[in-house]
Amino acid sequence: MARILVTGGSGKLGRAVLRDLVAHGNSVLNLDQAPPQEAICPSVKIDLSDFGEVAAAVMGGIDERGGPFDAVVHLAAIPAPGLAANARTFTNNVSATYNIFEACRLAGIKNVVFASSETVLGLPFDTPPPYAPVDEEYFPRPESAYSLGKLVDETMAAQFCRWDPELRMVGLRFSNVMYPEDYAAFPKFDSDPNARKWNLWGYIDARDGAQAVRRAILADFKGFEAFIIANADSVMSRSSASLLAEVFPGVEQKGNISTNSTLLSVEKAKRMLGYSPQYSWRHQ
Ligand SMILES: NC(=O)c1ccc[n+]([C@@H]2O[C@H](COP(=O)([O-])OP(=O)(O)OC[C@H]3O[C@@H](n4cnc5c(N)ncnc54)[C@H](O)[C@@H]3O)[C@@H](O)[C@H]2O)c1
Repeated sequence: MARILVTGGSGKLGRAVLRDLVAHGNSVLNLDQAPPQEAICPSVKIDLSDFGEVAAAVMGGIDERGGPFDAVVHLAAIPAPGLAANARTFTNNVSATYNIFEACRLAGIKNVVFASSETVLGLPFDTPPPYAPVDEEYFPRPESAYSLGKLVDETMAAQFCRWDPELRMVGLRFSNVMYPEDYAAFPKFDSDPNARKWNLWGYIDARDGAQAVRRAILADFKGFEAFIIANADSVMSRSSASLLAEVFPGVEQKGNISTNSTLLSVEKAKRMLGYSPQYSWRHQ
C-alpha cells in the first residue's frame, strides 16, 4: 500500500483515478478547490495557486490529513482551451504545477505523475501532423495558451529531474477523456470525417486513463518522460488509414495502421509503463 496525494480528484478524470488507486489498496488523499461528487477517499479543499497551502499539504501539515506521501499525482487544471481567459488558464495551470513540483522537491518526494495533454502534439491540427500515428518523437507544437502551459509543465519536469537524478516525473499526454455514458454520441461522428480530426479521432476512457496513472506511479526509471495516453482504437467506424488519406492526404502514414487503430500512438506507454488499454466504445 502506498500513500498517494492526488490533485484534481474531484474532476472528470480525477474521480476515476481516485477509484482505481483506492481499489488497488492505496491510501489516497484528494486536494481540490471543488468538493468531491462522491466520497471515494478523504478530500481537502485547497487553492493550488497558493504555495503556502500547497507546501503545507504536500509536507503533511494539514490536521488529520498528514503525510508523508510516497507519490503525488497532479491532475488539477482548467482542462481545455477556451474555458477561461487565456492568461487565467495559463497562470492557474502553470502556477499550480510549479507549486506542486516545488513542494514535492522540498518534501523529498521522488515519484510525481502529472496530466499533460494530447494538445501538445499540435491539436487542432490546422497545421497537419508531421506523420501519423503521432508519437512522442517530435518537438511539441502547442497551439493555445492551455497547451503552451502543458508544454511549460513538461519543461519544468525535465529541469526538476535534471536537478535531482533520483526523481521521476511522468507527464501523461491524455487524449479526450470519456465515460461510458459519453459513448452514445460516438456513432454520429461517422457522418463527418472532419468533426473529430482535431485530435486525430482519438479518445481515452477515464478508467484506462486511471490505469495509466497507476502504472506510471509504479514505473522503474528515473528522470522525466512524456507518454501519449489514448485508447487502442479511434472514435470512428471507418478505417484510420482511409480517414488520414481523405483528411490529411499529404501526411506520411507510418508503419502498419490496422483497421480502427489509434492514430495517437500508445506504443511508448505500452513499452515503458506496461500500459494496456482495456476499454473501447465498440464493446462496453
Ligand atoms: N478532459 C480531457 O479531455 C483532458 C484531456 C487531456 C488532458 N486533460 C488534463 O487532465 C486533467 C484532469 O482533467 P479533467 O477533465 O478531469 O478536468 P476537470 O475540470 O473535470 O477537473 C479538474 C479539477 O482541477 C481542479 N482545479 C483546477 N484548478 C485548481 C486550483 N487552482 N486549485 C485547486 N483545484 C483546482 C478543479 O476544481 C477540478 O475539480 C487536467 O490537467 C487536464 O488538463 C484533460
